[in-house]
Amino acid sequence: MRNEMHLQFSALSQNESFARVTVAAFVAQLDPTMDELTEIKTVVSEAVTNAIIHGYNNDPNGMVYISVVIEEGAVRITIRDEGAGIADIEEARQPLFTTKPELERSGMGFTIMENFMDEISIHSEVNKGTTVHLTKYIMKSKALCN
Ligand SMILES: Nc1ncnc2c1ncn2[C@@H]1O[C@H](COP(=O)(O)OP(=O)(O)OP(=O)(O)O)[C@@H](O)[C@H]1O
Ligand SMILES: [Mg+2]
Repeated sequence: MRNEMHLQFSALSQNESFARVTVAAFVAQLDPTMDELTEIKTVVSEAVTNAIIHGYNNDPNGMVYISVVIEEGAVRITIRDEGAGIADIEEARQPLFTTKPELERSGMGFTIMENFMDEISIHSEVNKGTTVHLTKYIMKSKALCN
């Protein structure tokens, strides 16, 4: 059975924990392990923080959009902004690459997303915005499907 939810909120850093906890609560119905849930929360946090800081430069007029689809043991998370966009996605994905070193960013957000999720794809257009698709297969529900 397919189950989905959609969320949108202002680009304010205090909404990062709201997004993280809300997505985790929705995913909980798949009965993930604590590790799986922690990994999902971490990637949501990284992608939302990117949308707020890089996409919107902390402008709270920006909106962040999240959708989550659960289907056959897979969790598909889409996190989108309509902000600055990324000029060179391959470069942005490199470990330690950051355009905001002055903010003590470590440039590890995309690397963390890649490590914690089974699939990641990034679409972006300068001055239009960025969309990150993240998929994770939850072990227990996958076993139940087989
Ligand atoms: N939503 C976004 N909009 C515009 N640029 C982005 C977005 N997400 C990422 N980027 C660009 O990609 C770079 C790499 O992102 P990544 O999350 O890996 O590192 P970071 O955010 O700079 O540092 P960290 O996540 O470790 O704090 C960013 O520095 C930024 O230039
Ligand atoms: Mg980041």
